[in-house]
Amino acid sequence: MTKYPIGVFISGRGSNLKSIINACSELSFPGKISIIFSDNPDAKGIELAYENNIDAISLDVNDFKDKNDFEEEILKLIEPYNLKLVCLAGYMKILSKRFIDKFPGKIINIHPSLLPKYKGLDTHRRAIENKDSVSGCTVHYVNENLDDGEIVVQKEVKIDSNDTELTLADKVLKEEHLIYPEAIKLLLKK
Ligand code: GRF
Repeated sequence: MTKYPIGVFISGRGSNLKSIINACSELSFPGKISIIFSDNPDAKGIELAYENNIDAISLDVNDFKDKNDFEEEILKLIEPYNLKLVCLAGYMKILSKRFIDKFPGKIINIHPSLLPKYKGLDTHRRAIENKDSVSGCTVHYVNENLDDGEIVVQKEVKIDSNDTELTLADKVLKEEHLIYPEAIKLLLKK
């Protein structure tokens, strides 16, 4: 089975990164993580790179003249990996159109809501405040607008009357860890 090179971009905890690492360890999974990028040198998720012997790069935007220079450096550093897919997993920056155009149809993101509902932050709080009966998570293609591109996979999660922001986040996260590897597999096999 060919294992295509993928990149994972993170900013924090890295639990989705972990689920992708686990999936990649299966022989039948069509991808391997070639590079992990973090825009936050203190991201907890970056430890997973060291534990699993995966190349990692961490750059702080504040060390660059502007976001354009920052992204140019990322592009330069990831270029040798010839990535078939770039997976944003809790990456907290919006990529510029210029960056996205370098990877046409190859950048995806995971978001903890049933998009197009609740783009941006605090998705679980908003779902509960609005007394929604379902929430969920979405893997989607990335364009230059926040949480906006075409949907790849979506999974619903039932909201119970006693759910809090935290319990709902937990339930949704469990599904995220299933659908992200599933979506990656789907796209790599295309
Ligand atoms: C996840 O809920 C993801 O959907 C959102 O940011 C969170 C990242 O969590 N985009 P983790 O860093 O993967 O644990």
